[in-house]
Amino acid sequence: MSGNRVLVTGAPGNVGTDVVRELVAMGCVVRVGAFDVALARQVLGESVEVVRFDFLDAATFAAAFEGVERMFLVRPPALGDAERQIAPAIRAAVTAGVQHIVFLSLQGVEQNRFTPHYKIEQIIEGLGVAYTFLRASFFMQNLSTTHRDEIRDESVIYLPVGDAKTSFIDARDIAAVAARALTEDGHARRKYTLTGAEALGYDVVAAKLSAVLGRPIRYARPNVLAFVVRHLRAGKALPYVLVMALLYTLTRTGNAKDVTGEVERVLGRPPRSFDQFAHDYRAVWG
Ligand SMILES: NC(=O)c1ccc[n+]([C@@H]2O[C@H](COP(=O)([O-])OP(=O)(O)OC[C@H]3O[C@@H](n4cnc5c(N)ncnc54)[C@H](OP(=O)(O)O)[C@@H]3O)[C@@H](O)[C@H]2O)c1
Repeated sequence: MSGNRVLVTGAPGNVGTDVVRELVAMGCVVRVGAFDVALARQVLGESVEVVRFDFLDAATFAAAFEGVERMFLVRPPALGDAERQIAPAIRAAVTAGVQHIVFLSLQGVEQNRFTPHYKIEQIIEGLGVAYTFLRASFFMQNLSTTHRDEIRDESVIYLPVGDAKTSFIDARDIAAVAARALTEDGHARRKYTLTGAEALGYDVVAAKLSAVLGRPIRYARPNVLAFVVRHLRAGKALPYVLVMALLYTLTRTGNAKDVTGEVERVLGRPPRSFDQFAHDYRAVWG
């Protein structure tokens, strides 16, 4: 498969960056469809081809999809209207000859029909193209990106999930599975629910971060209203805050705790542990 060009979207990004790294290490011909070309070159280096790709700008589709057989598809979090904002690019990709789409989806998507990921899965299935759906649980990297500042600056994790557990996955493991699905046979029409090896409460997460950082990290258990108010006061956009509040409310009801063995089944090794993640990323929390 290494001679076939693979298009990666969502790079640089939590998963896309490591998908590119995995594919390059495998000797694949990689094209990055980047929203911000300069940033992509800065993060990924000059050795991969980078073209501008914007889901909302059809003029960027032809150069991105030309000569591509397989594609890693990431829905940018800000694009919530699957039919209007994502489907045109998917249809253009298939028309241009893309034969297999590996889509970064969401754990439990089959029960959450209101999500864009559910609609995107339906659109892809409806096109008759080969696909692999990676239904991922919460990324460990949310703590090193979205929630980094409050951990670094206030030594607090401020999430409205009570004592509920989350089967966190390291985004690098999702990328490793994606790279397999993009390069090996046997992953077509598969829907993998990808989780870490265990479900953890945020009290345990806080204790693990405390141990790695050598200072106490506190898990605050706000209610959802306090969570929303805090983020609005910090200047976050209302739709963004509401989506986060919804996701964490679902977590609070036990929606994010299921553990599967899919990562190990595909990779032949266990998923990375939270301890490993915390150790590898400790510099970001100061
Ligand atoms: N975070 C989680 O725990 C989790 C769990 C399961 C599934 N997911 C899903 O994973 C997906 C990725 O989420 P993420 O938070 O990890 O984001 P991300 O992939 O780190 O960032 C989004 C990427 O999309 C690019 N982008 C933004 N607008 C674009 C546009 N109009 N056209 C083309 N590319 C565009 C961004 O480029 P710039 O950086 O240049 O803006 C960035 O590379 C989402 O669909 C999310 O729902 C997330």
